[in-house]
Amino acid sequence: MLKKKIAVLTGSSRGIGKEILKLLAENNADIIACSRNEDEKHITFIEELKKKNNVNIEPIFFDLANLDQVKEKALGIVKKYNKIDVLINNAGTIHTALFQMTTLKNFKEIYETNFFSVVQLTQIILKSMLPHKNGSIINISSTSAFDSNVGRSAYSASKLSLVSLTKSLSSELGRHNIRVNSIAPGLTETDMAIQNTKKELMNEIIERSSLKRIGKPKDIANSVLFLSSDLSSFITGQTIRVDGGMQ
Ligand SMILES: NC(=O)c1ccc[n+]([C@@H]2O[C@H](COP(=O)([O-])OP(=O)(O)OC[C@H]3O[C@@H](n4cnc5c(N)ncnc54)[C@H](OP(=O)(O)O)[C@@H]3O)[C@@H](O)[C@H]2O)c1
Repeated sequence: MLKKKIAVLTGSSRGIGKEILKLLAENNADIIACSRNEDEKHITFIEELKKKNNVNIEPIFFDLANLDQVKEKALGIVKKYNKIDVLINNAGTIHTALFQMTTLKNFKEIYETNFFSVVQLTQIILKSMLPHKNGSIINISSTSAFDSNVGRSAYSASKLSLVSLTKSLSSELGRHNIRVNSIAPGLTETDMAIQNTKKELMNEIIERSSLKRIGKPKDIANSVLFLSSDLSSFITGQTIRVDGGMQ
C-alpha cells in the first residue's frame, strides 16, 4: 500500500510505534525510524525488517525533549531526503498526578515532548513535503484529550493541543494536497498503559467498552496505515478515535 513512499516515524522503538514501523515496512514504505536511544535490539529489529521486506529503513536517534536536537536531526533528514510523503508524530510521554501536585515544570516537560517537538519536527519535515504537493501527517493524540481522566491534566492538555494543531494544519496545508489527521487511541496494551494504569481501572475500562477489551498496538497501527495510504485521500482535519467503543 505504501510502495515508493517515504515515511518519518517517531517513537519507533517500542509499543505502538514499533508496530507502526513493522506494518509500514510490510507495506513497502521506506522509513526514517526515529527513536531516543541507540539500542542494539532495536537496530537488529530494523535490520531484520529491511531484509524481510526489501525496504530501506534508516534509524535516527534523538531526544524529542531536546528541541535543539530535534531541529538539528530534522534538518539532516530534509537535507538527505528531498521527498517525504508521510510524517507520523507518534512518540509521547505521560505524567500522572493530581492537578494540585502537577508543577508548571511537569506541564512544560510534557509539552516539550508531546507538543513542541511535534511543532518543530513538522515545520522542518514540511520542507520536503510541500514542493511535491502530496503528503500525509498523522499525529497520535489520545482519547484522554476528550475524556476526563483523573490525574492526567498535563497529558490530556498536550494531547488536545495536538488535535487543535491537526485542525489548523489541515486548513493551511490542504491547498498543497497535504492531509493532516490525528488518531486518538483508547487504552492500548503497551508499556505506557501497563505502567500507568491500575489493574482495577483497566478492568473497569474493559467492562465499559463495547468490544470488551483494550487495544493492541496493531489496532492503532492499522489506522495509521490507512491514513498514510491513498485509501484515505479525501480525509483531512479529522481525529479518529480507535478505542473499541470506550465509554
Ligand atoms: N498505550 C496507550 O494506552 C495510549 C493511549 C492513547 C495514546 N497513546 C499515545 O500513543 C503514542 C505511543 O505510546 P505507547 O503506548 O506506544 O508508549 P510507549 O510504549 O511508552 O512508547 C513510547 C515511545 O515514545 C518514545 N519517546 C518517549 N519520549 C521520548 C523522547 N523524549 N524522545 C524520543 N522518543 C521518546 C519512546 O522511546 P524510548 O523507547 O526511548 O522510551 C517510545 O518509543 C504516545 O504518543 C501515547 O501518548 C497511547
